[in-house]
Amino acid sequence: MKREITVAAHASFCFGVKRAVEMLENALERGEKIFCLGEPIHNPTFIRSIRERGVRIISDKDLESLPRDALVFIRAHGIPREQTALLDAKGIKYIDATCPYVKRIHDAVASANDGTYTVILGDRKHPEVSGIMSHSRGPVFVYGSFEEAESRVAEDIPVGSPVIAVAQTTFATAEWKKFCEFFKKVYTNAKIFDTICRVTEERQAEILELAEKNDGVIVVGGKNSSNTQKLYALASSVCPLVLHIEDAQHITKQEIEAFSKCEKIVIAAGASTPPGIIQEVKKLMAENMKEEFSFEELLDQSFKTLNTGERVTGVILAVNPAEIKVDLGTKHTGILPYDEITTESGVVLEDEFHVGDTIDVICTKFNDVEGTVMLSKKRLDVSKHLAELQSAVESGETLYGTVKEITRGGVVVQVKTATVFVPASQCGLPKDADLSELKGKKVPLKIIEYNEQRRRAVGSIRNALRSQHKKEVEEFYATLEPGQKFKGTVRSLTNFGAFVNIGPVDGMVHITELSWGRLKPPSEVLSVGQIVDVYVKSVDPEKKRISLGYKTEENNPWNIFLAKYKEGDIIPVTVVSLMPFGAFAEIIPGVDGLIHNSQISDKPVSNPASVLKAGDKVDVKIIAIDRDKNRISLSIRAALDPDYVAPEPPKAKEKAEESAEENAIDDKTESEVPAEEETVSTGAEE
Ligand code: F3S
Repeated sequence: MKREITVAAHASFCFGVKRAVEMLENALERGEKIFCLGEPIHNPTFIRSIRERGVRIISDKDLESLPRDALVFIRAHGIPREQTALLDAKGIKYIDATCPYVKRIHDAVASANDGTYTVILGDRKHPEVSGIMSHSRGPVFVYGSFEEAESRVAEDIPVGSPVIAVAQTTFATAEWKKFCEFFKKVYTNAKIFDTICRVTEERQAEILELAEKNDGVIVVGGKNSSNTQKLYALASSVCPLVLHIEDAQHITKQEIEAFSKCEKIVIAAGASTPPGIIQEVKKLMAENMKEEFSFEELLDQSFKTLNTGERVTGVILAVNPAEIKVDLGTKHTGILPYDEITTESGVVLEDEFHVGDTIDVICTKFNDVEGTVMLSKKRLDVSKHLAELQSAVESGETLYGTVKEITRGGVVVQVKTATVFVPASQCGLPKDADLSELKGKKVPLKIIEYNEQRRRAVGSIRNALRSQHKKEVEEFYATLEPGQKFKGTVRSLTNFGAFVNIGPVDGMVHITELSWGRLKPPSEVLSVGQIVDVYVKSVDPEKKRISLGYKTEENNPWNIFLAKYKEGDIIPVTVVSLMPFGAFAEIIPGVDGLIHNSQISDKPVSNPASVLKAGDKVDVKIIAIDRDKNRISLSIRAALDPDYVAPEPPKAKEKAEESAEENAIDDKTESEVPAEEETVSTGAEE
């Protein structure tokens, strides 16, 4: 059996929708930030594709909070007068794609005298009707059908009142005609404007004719599209098998089976149905009805059908400095211009792209006359990268980017093709620091906020640096062992020691580690910024504390003294302190000897302060070295008289002096120093 599938001549975009879609496409090509007041056309596939390209669909409520740089798109239905006034008052730019046929109704209604009643035949919830109502100069009444108008109008509008009547552009022609006949008789003074769009009229007349001649009708279009619904209703009134679907994916097996038994079917479509969707439905039905196609038709069907805004993978056919030609497996040759390839500057296309490679792009504009379709890779990349920013908010992933701009409140970081704003407080620099030092630098950042509607991301370099540091600290502690040596930098000094930076953390050198002999204030031993050799004494990973050692056998001054001096040597020393029993004198830093009262002069001295004072430089003879107790006895007297032999001090006296000496040393050193375990801290986490 020869099967036939006919596509209605008036299927797909009407003049007004086509015009609006082109205006939207042009704005998208200019890279405008578009906020569409309601869906521009009632077709879910189309809406999905423009959303992916960055268009935000907003409602009336969002008008108040639009950003100043927004560009509002007014669809073919038009909007109420008050909303245009609000946009003007706020200084927000807009593209007015209101269909000229709808505008004509606004003008007709607005041209009436003040107080004139307005009658509208249409759907009172439809945005086109809301727009028309806003232009009325007096009370407005909307009737959804001729029957409703006939039964109610006399109650609503006193006969003889000034009145005008208009119809929604897609209102059913037959109903409108009945209304006009009735209305003219009742309101003889009424001004009646036939505002039904001829496109709609022709479409409706065509569907009635085709539905009568065919076994089945498939009406393609959005379920919320008023004109598509009307086509469905008209077809159903004359044909037993009528189906309303949004696209080919929505036809069930049972429905295909029912239509496959038909000899002749017709495919009609609403004014907002893109042509690609109609072709897909035709192809699906042709496959199932085994229609006999001409060779040309079969060739056409072997090509994929693409739509504006669709993502597609193609193969590179040619590359030149200005553009890339792409085979998309369709009748159209894909043209990818330089500006639509990347956001980076200075890219040499021949270096980056090669014939035969595959490439992901989106279709931006078809030219059927030239057989080309303009493509964009940049837009696809931007959408992809914005999606990455959005998911990074939840995952907490660290991203990397380059600071490309310094603004008043922070910096703008380029992350692949997307941009992220980082407020000054999140830049990771001290307060009041000059942000320009970040310009051109590669920085890590966490995405802390993503506004889907505005497609704007806010990031924090500070958070990323903190988390990086935390990770480094954990890894550092995992490898840290007692005995490990480091070259560290003195970060700060306190009364009880010094903080020394070793890698990502600071360790503490306790004051007792800073000198071998008498304890000295840390500031006398080290200075901030000094590079020192330290080693790990102990680690507490839980409390994040590292105790560092500074003293080693090589720098032990007692060993240095023993290697350099022996008993009998006469050496210069400096008096450092005076005691009742004698004077302590420094031989080398960290090693002091005692000049007993009996050894200060050839005559007995009862008070050393009567002869010596701290800071005096004198020559002494080393008369005894006690290696067990690390004690050195010095004598000025023996240095002056080579024949003098120092007598052994009496035992009892020696003991008393020893204990006095030890007490004196203890008093001088450790009285106010906290224990090491109380003071050790890393100061690790910045
Ligand atoms: Fe305009 Fe008629 Fe289409 S009114 S939007 S051309 S259906």
